[in-house]
Amino acid sequence: MPNSQEERLVELIGPERIAQRLREVAGQINSHLSGQRVIAVCVLKGAVIFFADLVRLLQIKELQLDFIGLSSYGAGQVSSGQITITRWLSCDVTGAWILLVEDIVDSGRSMSELLAKLAQLPVAGVSLCTLIDKQGRRECAINIDYSCFQLNSGFLVGYGLDCAEKYRQLPGIYELTH
Ligand code: IMP
Ligand code: MG
Repeated sequence: MPNSQEERLVELIGPERIAQRLREVAGQINSHLSGQRVIAVCVLKGAVIFFADLVRLLQIKELQLDFIGLSSYGAGQVSSGQITITRWLSCDVTGAWILLVEDIVDSGRSMSELLAKLAQLPVAGVSLCTLIDKQGRRECAINIDYSCFQLNSGFLVGYGLDCAEKYRQLPGIYELTH
């Protein structure tokens, strides 16, 4: 799909494949967490569409939704390495199980910092669910409980993922090429 003179989008994972994989992963989460009081926490902004689709597949009676805002990129495709928290939890998390929902675990630095902060809270436990695991690029060891897709190369956009705030609304996952 040509978008501008410089940028081209190549579809890697289409909407049907995403939907099917989400059903599988939601099934795993349901079997592990259905008896818990769970707070599903969306890491904004990249996970927003993944989160919206995933939580509607969860069969957990005591489920609340909350949001954390995290920003590690400037306007480009390279992480600034500086992680800024732009929004924090608003629910009372005491005794609850946190299901952290992230778009991409790349170097692992963002999740390493965030998981360390969450570990200081009086929660029952934390599970990490990511749409994409770029495992080959890891710098910090991260335990991922639920991972939908492993993709190691390329800069990805669509299904919530952006490049300088563009392309989040696309229904599939695309590689951005020049
Ligand atoms: P980290 O390197 O694991 O800290 O990744 C930080 C964040 O960078 C991820 O949560 C994503 O939001 C973003 N990111 C990493 N790779 C990509 C990509 O290919 N496209 C869009 N965002 C990305
Ligand atoms: Mg992210």
